[in-house]
Amino acid sequence: MIEASNSLKESVKLRYGMVGGGSGSFIGDVHRRAISLDHQAELCAGCFSRSFANTLETGKALGVPEPRLYESYLDMAKEESKREDGINFVVIVTPNNSHYSIAKAFLEQGINVVCDKPVTTDPDDALKLESLAKEKGLLCAVTYTYTGYPMVKHAKELIASGAIGEIRFVNAEYPQEWLAETVTDNKQAAWRIDPAQSGISNCVGDIGSHIENLVSCITGLEIDSLCARLDKMVKGRQLDDNATIMINYTSGAKGLYWCSQVAWGADNGLAVRVIGSKGSLSWKQEAPDYLTLVQGHNAVQILSRGRDKLADGAAKFVRLPSGHPEGYFEALANIYLAYIGAVKKLMQGISLTESDKNFPQLHDGWKGVEFVRRCVESSEKGAVWVQFPVGE
Ligand SMILES: NC(=O)c1ccc[n+]([C@@H]2O[C@H](COP(=O)([O-])OP(=O)(O)OC[C@H]3O[C@@H](n4cnc5c(N)ncnc54)[C@H](O)[C@@H]3O)[C@@H](O)[C@H]2O)c1
Repeated sequence: MIEASNSLKESVKLRYGMVGGGSGSFIGDVHRRAISLDHQAELCAGCFSRSFANTLETGKALGVPEPRLYESYLDMAKEESKREDGINFVVIVTPNNSHYSIAKAFLEQGINVVCDKPVTTDPDDALKLESLAKEKGLLCAVTYTYTGYPMVKHAKELIASGAIGEIRFVNAEYPQEWLAETVTDNKQAAWRIDPAQSGISNCVGDIGSHIENLVSCITGLEIDSLCARLDKMVKGRQLDDNATIMINYTSGAKGLYWCSQVAWGADNGLAVRVIGSKGSLSWKQEAPDYLTLVQGHNAVQILSRGRDKLADGAAKFVRLPSGHPEGYFEALANIYLAYIGAVKKLMQGISLTESDKNFPQLHDGWKGVEFVRRCVESSEKGAVWVQFPVGE
């Protein structure tokens, strides 16, 4: 058993604001709770909804002073940048089609940005944000929550150390059941299945992008080409709700991804299996504290977060002793722990090391959006192989 770590904690709290996350929404409140776990930043401003009444109601409930509750994100970016005690970073948790303009507005005003995935709906916009942030010397994170789990970070380190040899094949899936029928009264579903708000894809954009990011993070593999078939299983749906994707990686390894929102019996079944020349590794989001490692003919090992010795890059994100389950809040909190630590260093003029950047960045965000674009392109052409650009 190992002790919970608080070595990353520093006393100075950063100030943050939020766009989206109003009363009745899903992920904004998860972000606020995750950020509060480490007492590293406090909520000081918000434009929580397109409805100002909702922003006022949400802000009051959260203790944000009324003068810092804004009718529009543009006002918020401008006004916060003028204040001596203005926010150090903004968290964007609105529907996909609004991410780009909101992120751009805050970066232009010199404010660091955390944006939920997919970072934009057009990959070229993600690249524009990347160069704007670079030009302004600002730091951005894209909250691919699942890479925050300590066992995902440990899997990455194990693979990099050669524990399973050279990667031959990756099999990843993300089944859910919540859109298996026509949905009429679900706010979260309404914009996801509407091309005007969600972009060119529903299922691949919403959850296939998590598979792409998780595999990329754990294995370091780069996609060379892909062949995708996107399905609309529920009658009348304009966007995909199920998809099967074959991958060729630049290393010569192969992959197969499946994501679905019509898979009866599946809650949130993100899972990945990496097959190497000497063994394999597998991890499931619904049992995130465990990693299954097979090395040749040796007995199968179930590695446990909190019990087994983890690589340094993973161990510092463990909060609780073994047998005390950690979950989704902690995974998201780990992204913030690394990000806020990096912003603090940046604000003090300290250069960031690679280990400081232990969170998904804008380039990872670009890869996710490009992945969606290429999957849609492949499927529309009749499930043909399409090249994945290098994007440097
Ligand atoms: N990282 C993850 O695991 C994860 C999980 C769920 C959702 N997401 C992402 O988070 C984002 C939000 O998803 P959700 O399910 O919370 O959506 P939601 O519909 O529940 O909430 C969206 C919120 O944004 C507000 N909003 C919309 N436009 C606005 C604007 N211009 N100004 C201010 N507020 C505005 C809405 O009023 C609402 O409060 C999406 O991009 C989604 O892909 C990520």
